[in-house]
Amino acid sequence: MTLTQLRKLKKKAEKITCLTAYDASFAHILDQAGIDILLVGDSLGMVIQGHDSTLPVTVDDMIYHCQQVHRTCTKALLIVDMPFMSYATPHAALETAARLMREGQAQMIKLEGGAWLVETVQLLTERGIPVCAHLGLTPQSVHQLGGYRVQGRVENEAECLRNDALALQAAGASLLILECVPEKLAAEITTSLEIPTIGIGAGIACDGQVLVLYDMLGITHGKIPSFSKDFLQETGTIAAAIEAFITAVKTGIFPGSEHTFQ
Ligand code: KIV
Repeated sequence: MTLTQLRKLKKKAEKITCLTAYDASFAHILDQAGIDILLVGDSLGMVIQGHDSTLPVTVDDMIYHCQQVHRTCTKALLIVDMPFMSYATPHAALETAARLMREGQAQMIKLEGGAWLVETVQLLTERGIPVCAHLGLTPQSVHQLGGYRVQGRVENEAECLRNDALALQAAGASLLILECVPEKLAAEITTSLEIPTIGIGAGIACDGQVLVLYDMLGITHGKIPSFSKDFLQETGTIAAAIEAFITAVKTGIFPGSEHTFQ
């Protein structure tokens, strides 16, 4: 999967599938099932390491897990998260991204935040580093946001998200994750952009969907978020659960209204 192919999928209105992966064995199953994107998310801080947020995750942690996923990822696009404070300045972002791509073998990096990242996204993309932006509920800012809550429900917040999305696209971002935003707002942002949007708790109108692997297999030690779905429960095997997720996204069955915020 390449960025060119992702853009074609958006043009054809064919939904893009993405799941998180943190190790070689799961990455192999997902890749063979035909997932479009593998995301080595810093959610690993919670589902693998047992922390109560993503904040303790380090660049070395991300490189370690990205290397594992890369060993069995043959077809999917491999994206890796830049962890908390590893891109606080454009220069720091460049150094972190270079390590994640050189040592971790990632094909694209993801960072959380809006307009303040414009200079950083410009710097990275001008130097050949593809960027996936992440707006809405940005878990690295959980304390600033006052908890894991839906973003963009009031008009000034919604307007800010619309402007941030356009600014990040103009700066060079190739993909945008929208997390926990009302479906109408996610639909507006998706229509306004040329780059694909991938939603998580952002409704059916996004160009694609992502879930945290452990949530959609029902093996998280914490509470499974209301926008997620346990695909293992209704299928019985991991391979069948992954296939069910891909089919449900490609056919527009997932997310349903029960997984969507208004
Ligand atoms: O860290 C992660 O897994 C993510 C996804 C939830 C989008 O950022």
